[in-house]
Amino acid sequence: MKKILIINGPNLNLLGKREPTIYGHASFEDYLEKLRKKYIQCDIAYYQSNIEGELINKIHETGFECDGIILNAGAYTHTSIALHDAIKAVTTPVVEVHISNVHARESFRHVSMISAACKGVIIGFGLDSYRLALESFLTDNE
Ligand code: DQA
Repeated sequence: MKKILIINGPNLNLLGKREPTIYGHASFEDYLEKLRKKYIQCDIAYYQSNIEGELINKIHETGFECDGIILNAGAYTHTSIALHDAIKAVTTPVVEVHISNVHARESFRHVSMISAACKGVIIGFGLDSYRLALESFLTDNE
């Protein structure tokens, strides 16, 4: 069974309440329940933190043993060289995801500090971005 970890960064604990015109009305917990039901062949773990160092610790902790990490680093995407280095430091492939199309938003969201360290990037498909990232780990695309 593939072990996949979804990591959400700052403010993503407020999904469903936070700027619903951009991020939608569903909570991540509800979405996750559906995802787990749809992909019973996967062990999908979930972690969220608003703190940069805790996200880095989680990547270190899991990044040598799970099969894939799906990372929405929220605003740290645009600022964190430390997250870039953490992704590079581990052996588990990391797919960067964003719910909104960051390229259609403010220019400060057009830059990602982490994309170059990631296996791939999925942007702008709403919560379905996470499912698409999960699919990428189930497809043999080494
Ligand atoms: C986000 C986009 C980021 O720019 C923003 O800071 C977020 C969410 C997204 O999923 O669309 O917190 O990562």
